[in-house]
Amino acid sequence: MSHSKLSGIRSDFLDGSTLIANQAVRADTEIEIINPETGEKISTAPALSAKDAEYAIDTNIGAASSWRRTAPAERARILKAWHREILENRNQLAMILTAEQGKPVKEAKNEIDYAASFVSWFAEEAQRIYGDVATSGQNHRILVIKQPVGVVAAITPWNFPAAMITRKVAPALAAGCTVTLKPSELTPLTALALGRLAFDAGLPPGVFNIVTGMPDQIGPVLTAHQAIRKLTFTGSTAVGKFLMGECAKTLKKISMELGGNAPLIVFNDADIDTAVDGAIASKFRNTGQTCVCANRILVQDRIHDQFVDALTARIAKMIVGDGLEGETDQGPLINSSAFAKVEAHVADAKKKGAIIITGGAGHEAGPLFYQPTVLTGATLAMRLASEETFGPVAPIFQFSDEAEAVKIANLTKSGLAAYAFTRDPDRLWRLADDLEAGILGMNTGEISTAIAPFGGIKESGLGREGGHYGIDEFIEIKTAHFGVRA
Ligand code: SIN
Repeated sequence: MSHSKLSGIRSDFLDGSTLIANQAVRADTEIEIINPETGEKISTAPALSAKDAEYAIDTNIGAASSWRRTAPAERARILKAWHREILENRNQLAMILTAEQGKPVKEAKNEIDYAASFVSWFAEEAQRIYGDVATSGQNHRILVIKQPVGVVAAITPWNFPAAMITRKVAPALAAGCTVTLKPSELTPLTALALGRLAFDAGLPPGVFNIVTGMPDQIGPVLTAHQAIRKLTFTGSTAVGKFLMGECAKTLKKISMELGGNAPLIVFNDADIDTAVDGAIASKFRNTGQTCVCANRILVQDRIHDQFVDALTARIAKMIVGDGLEGETDQGPLINSSAFAKVEAHVADAKKKGAIIITGGAGHEAGPLFYQPTVLTGATLAMRLASEETFGPVAPIFQFSDEAEAVKIANLTKSGLAAYAFTRDPDRLWRLADDLEAGILGMNTGEISTAIAPFGGIKESGLGREGGHYGIDEFIEIKTAHFGVRA
């Protein structure tokens, strides 16, 4: 560990091992975890082999029978203990998260709270898994029983190294499933710390394993293994499609939270401050690296200049730099290919006539930092109209009426999030019907919470996470018919 600001972190959080069946496991080869802000190596994690992944699943299989029979109240008690452990270690987890992922530490602390909230939410849901009883005739009763799907594999991304784990693992555990998690190879340290806290909370061996390493070693085991009955994945649409194809061979259940291309529509009658707040929250969260980030900002003609000026003024106040400094608003992008994509989108937009209002280039804070950017004159011919930029670039498209806005908004294969700002309540209802997205932000840029379902339509995914729906993804329904003698 060479990042000086990480001294004082609990030693087992960064000891270079992973946890399988509650035992520290190492490997002959390691992955190096790099701080995107400095380029320094922070620590290592084991690069497990396919055989190690198979061993992890064997321990899940071994633990499955007893965990599914553990009383829901007891599963809830352990999850609540995990929730407490996460909050008690909030600062350390946030520092690790910032060091490996780059998001500013105040945002990382929010992510830890967000991650913890899934654990407490699903601890409660563990105790509310009810079945149904029906009478289909005088001598016939039907019992609908809900059971855990079995062994679950979870594959999580680098952009939310804590929250995407708990959003999957907590409902799976609550439902009575055992889980093997493959965190992103770019950000496994937060996952490993969460795993240690789950162990401290009293999860029995084999119930929750973490397999760190490279996707080509571990992925095929998770998709092909017959005992794994469910794969839950957050990541790109391209990888999601691939995993879906692989899972088809053993007909696993799948949930996929995939890429987005969110429109954020500002109408002439919007409250400008609310719209700017919403645009900042949704566009610049995590330096633009979320699946629900506004990717296209559509502004109606009469309010266009006023909105652009107000947004630009707010961006001028953003502090870009070292995420471990408390005041920083924007950190680095995750790696050089992310940076290259942002550069390419801006270059393409400029070539096709966009005007850079602010930003438009790398930032002096370091090689992976990009200036928060606003550009106007965006058109559908530009790459940033059809591809997820995943960076701090706000392209402004101008439109003249509601029908045109809805048409442009829906002109994408994705359907994860959409945002709209207007003071017309009728319009809000029409938009709620017409916008093709799984999650809508109406006069708000904040749509992420454990208590609401989260997920996409079209090529943005399958299934829902969060809310009381989130646990259904890990539940199998069994129907028992009973002949009843009079
Ligand atoms: C994501 O980017 O995939 C998740 C964002 C969120 O939960 O808010």
